[in-house]
Amino acid sequence: MEPGDEVPPLEGELLVIGAGSNMVFTKDYEGTVITLSNTFHLSSFTSHLVTAWGGMIMDDLVQWTLDHGLYGLENLSSIPGTVGASAVQNVGAYGAEAKDFIERVEAYDILERRHCDFSNADCRFAYRDSIFKHDPGRYLILRVTYRLSKEFVPNLSYKALEGLPHNTAQQLREAIMEVRWSKLPRPEEHGSAGSFFKNPVVDEDTYHRIRADYPDMPEAHGTDGGYKLSAGWLIDKVGWKGRTQGRTGVWPKNALVLYNADGCSGDEVRALAAAIQQDVKQKFGVALDPEAIII
Ligand code: EPU
Repeated sequence: MEPGDEVPPLEGELLVIGAGSNMVFTKDYEGTVITLSNTFHLSSFTSHLVTAWGGMIMDDLVQWTLDHGLYGLENLSSIPGTVGASAVQNVGAYGAEAKDFIERVEAYDILERRHCDFSNADCRFAYRDSIFKHDPGRYLILRVTYRLSKEFVPNLSYKALEGLPHNTAQQLREAIMEVRWSKLPRPEEHGSAGSFFKNPVVDEDTYHRIRADYPDMPEAHGTDGGYKLSAGWLIDKVGWKGRTQGRTGVWPKNALVLYNADGCSGDEVRALAAAIQQDVKQKFGVALDPEAIII
């Protein structure tokens, strides 16, 4: 779809998805699901700006940028999903978030039937959040423009990256992929939605109360709204890591990931999530919110 193209009116309930890698379906969707084809497609690039089609696989873009001497996205290596989803979800990993690089987002507003442009500020990016996430059937992300750097400055700020080889961006990318796949199930082997919950942000009193009881709690990142705790650690501490419940379970190497152990249904995943939420609430007084989109 090019800017200005006419789009026929779309009736009824709509759901726009990228690659669907962050979604759990508990039932058939009673409406129209819209997605963009995921062919490799770069709209344009100049010295620092790369514009990619919303349906492009994000990791293909990461590799392409490194092949062309453009840096910044390497810490986002191997994140499943599309370029469009990188803007919707403000994907993040290993000390980087999509919002650090997104210059502009072109979308089609299905409700108002017009093309529109969003600057980085217009997108109202926050932790795994953007303006697009609040209106799931409204915007089709057509293109995302990223501002990258011609100079490779390794970002090793994330603790798990300490000591990783980083002579070149490609080397760092490959090392990050290894760290990532040592902790997360490979999508081709076990279905999962990646991190199932967001890391909860708690107030100062709650943070100090938990810290006093558990001096081993990983360092919490201060954010504008409070302290961001590690949901994986909280779930681990209540004893769920590696446990299964029926045909679903908690990934043995990372308690933040719920996975399909043996052909489970979406409802079973939801039931497991609810049991975990209850236990974390009971032990720590902290509410966990799903990061995955549950239909
Ligand atoms: N931890 C445990 N037990 C666990 C899991 C984690 O104690 O079972 C501890 C770790 O030892 C570490 C801390 O919790 O001290 C944080 O763990 P990790 O570095 O793995 O990161 P995370 O906060 O659990 C986030 C993102 C991931 C991203 C990683 C790396 C969220 C919800 N998740 O996980 O994103 O890959 O950081 O940057 O923010 C995703 O969104 O799907 C995803 C995988």
